Amino acid sequence: MTDLRVRTAVPDDLDAVLAFWRTAAEGTSISDDRAGVERLVDRDPGALLLAERDGELVGTVIAGFDGWRCHLYRLAVHPRRRRQGIGSALLAAAEERFVRLGGRRADAMVLVRNETAHHAWAAAGYGPEEHWRRWVKPLTD
Ligand SMILES: CC(C)(COP(=O)(O)OP(=O)(O)OC[C@H]1O[C@@H](n2cnc3c(N)ncnc32)[C@H](O)[C@@H]1OP(=O)(O)O)[C@@H](O)C(=O)NCCC(=O)NCCS
Repeated sequence: MTDLRVRTAVPDDLDAVLAFWRTAAEGTSISDDRAGVERLVDRDPGALLLAERDGELVGTVIAGFDGWRCHLYRLAVHPRRRRQGIGSALLAAAEERFVRLGGRRADAMVLVRNETAHHAWAAAGYGPEEHWRRWVKPLTD
């Protein structure tokens, strides 16, 4: 796939990214608004990766590294562009970033019922750790 380009997002991309997630992503997140994504790009300008083909946004992933852990979020490919290697290309770019920054292990939260995602993550070499659960506490109303 020669015409696929993966690049980091800039503030001008963010409205398009939010619209893209409404079509392509699994579920929504507490940070899914302009302020939330702006904060991400402001805090870590290299974290939000976009895949484009012929200038069209076809996929995203957030490769977040806080100096301690490497977390992947928002892996999403346009529904009409799936099974073309875009998700794999995004994960490869994210992993390159992590390694460059000194990260040692990447992880992602994956819904138990999201079987398509299980296939994609497994194909990229990820596996579940059944002995963990996510413990959460909201910090805003
Ligand atoms: C999960 C997702 C990002 C995968 O993106 P993609 O670009 O289609 O993935 P790829 O084409 O790189 O697939 C890589 C491999 O993953 C596996 N895979 C991906 N989708 C699959 C499916 N629907 N069924 C079986 N295997 C699948 C295959 O092994 C595939 O390799 P192959 O096509 O050579 O057989 C995409 O399906 C998506 O956006 N889903 C909705 C959002 C989502 O659930 N994101 C994950 C949140 S945790």
